Amino acid sequence: MSDSNSSLRKAASLCCKKIHIGAAILPKPLFEYDTIDVANIDVVKDDNSIRIDDNQHTIEPIKNATVSYPSQYPPLHSISDTNEIYPTKKLPMYAQVLIREFNSVVIEHHLKWSPLCHTLPGPINASSPSDRIGRYDFYHVDAMVDFALQHDMEVKGHTLIWHVTSPVEFLNTLDAKQLEEEMRRHIFTTMGHFRGRIHMWDVVNEALAPDGSLANNIFLRKIGPCYIEKAFRYAHEADPSAILIYNDNKVEGGVDGPNPQKAEGYYKLLQSLVKNKVPIHAAGMQSHFNAGGVGVNRVPSPFAVKQQIHRIGNLGLKVHFSEMDVRVSQLPLNLQNLAQRQIYHDIIAAALTEPAFDGVWLWGFTDRHTWVKNFYYDDSPLVLDEMYQKKEAYIGLLDALRTLNVSGIVGGGVNLNSDVDSENRPWGYKWITNDCEADKSQQTIAFGDERPDWVHESQNP
Ligand code: G3I
Repeated sequence: MSDSNSSLRKAASLCCKKIHIGAAILPKPLFEYDTIDVANIDVVKDDNSIRIDDNQHTIEPIKNATVSYPSQYPPLHSISDTNEIYPTKKLPMYAQVLIREFNSVVIEHHLKWSPLCHTLPGPINASSPSDRIGRYDFYHVDAMVDFALQHDMEVKGHTLIWHVTSPVEFLNTLDAKQLEEEMRRHIFTTMGHFRGRIHMWDVVNEALAPDGSLANNIFLRKIGPCYIEKAFRYAHEADPSAILIYNDNKVEGGVDGPNPQKAEGYYKLLQSLVKNKVPIHAAGMQSHFNAGGVGVNRVPSPFAVKQQIHRIGNLGLKVHFSEMDVRVSQLPLNLQNLAQRQIYHDIIAAALTEPAFDGVWLWGFTDRHTWVKNFYYDDSPLVLDEMYQKKEAYIGLLDALRTLNVSGIVGGGVNLNSDVDSENRPWGYKWITNDCEADKSQQTIAFGDERPDWVHESQNP
């Protein structure tokens, strides 16, 4: 069980090999105070300034419970000590918990091609014009990366080439040769800027259609299938020491899982890249799970996930869960905690038995800030609740990491040899929803569809 001094970061540091325990981060909660932070400010003095309880610093009153920069504060990248950006000298709770729990971060949104190029220098806001192609603004990402490094966290770059967040309108005006040149320029500009600070990169993201064929995206249409290989070769040229990763979704269960077509397409793609001596070093499995999912959206068993990691490891690649979260709102209330804890525990414990597996990045860490609420529905997919309290899911994840501690039991008691237990009950039988005929029909998806799986899922929950 968890004790008050334990943390995911500490458990990872005690593992018998290096394990990344990371989280996706956003600049707003990292650099702005939130209502929960204001609640920690206890004394408002007569002159209307506020006294912070522990540090006794006097600051200006905080209006509407949030403070934004840089109207009040100097540009982040000119500051050597990130503590200076916090006017109370006290980190927002989001930042405090991040540092306590994680040894790695990944940038959730702002390091993608369009967000880097579509904004004016300075903070991103709704009125920023979107015609700034070619001009890079590293303002937010610099701040987040420097913050992470100052707190001894590694940073993963996400993501260089992904059709969904590329400036497609501009790229559409280019011919094949020009597009390839823009792709090269983008990779060199971005990796070059962060060289020495970011050592691992998701080079290509979600190049596969939900049916496992190559997504018919702008890069495929104009450059052809070789765009993937080219992106990796450019990335290797830009930083020969960087770890280069291919990242995709709904590929975790392998041929034994709920979506064998996609999982097989993923494996074949990795296999062909390795065969062609493309500089690729790792495979990211996103792991956006839905405990109530059926058909292709079912959560794969730990056994199926282990098999998939094993065969990718045999290609000579490292494997990690790159965007893990576990939706539960489609289950009855009384089963949600049970399912979430079991999924975080069993799948990670099983993955950690594979030598190729090198860690987990959660897609956020508190239910206060999760993409799921914007893209799907209200849910609580992460390991800390909206008040940053540890959930059952947190205990599941912590216990899984501890299987690699000195006193841990490798595998954590999870069935690693079969999808069913000795009484022939499927893994997760206490909460799993059975398929009906309609669920099977959801599996018919057009060849090469460029819309990501998670878009299909949100339209067909
Ligand atoms: O930054 C603006 C902010 O200024 C504004 O107030 C706010 C209002 O909606 O929008 C903010 O930007 C949003 C950004 O997330 C940060 O929250 C963008 O509109 C929104 O499109 C963006 O969505 C991200 C999406 O990728 C596209 O980049 C999600 O956060 C992020 O979770 C999602 O992540 C993807 C992975 O990269 C790839 N795998 C699937 C995963 C989930 O979709």
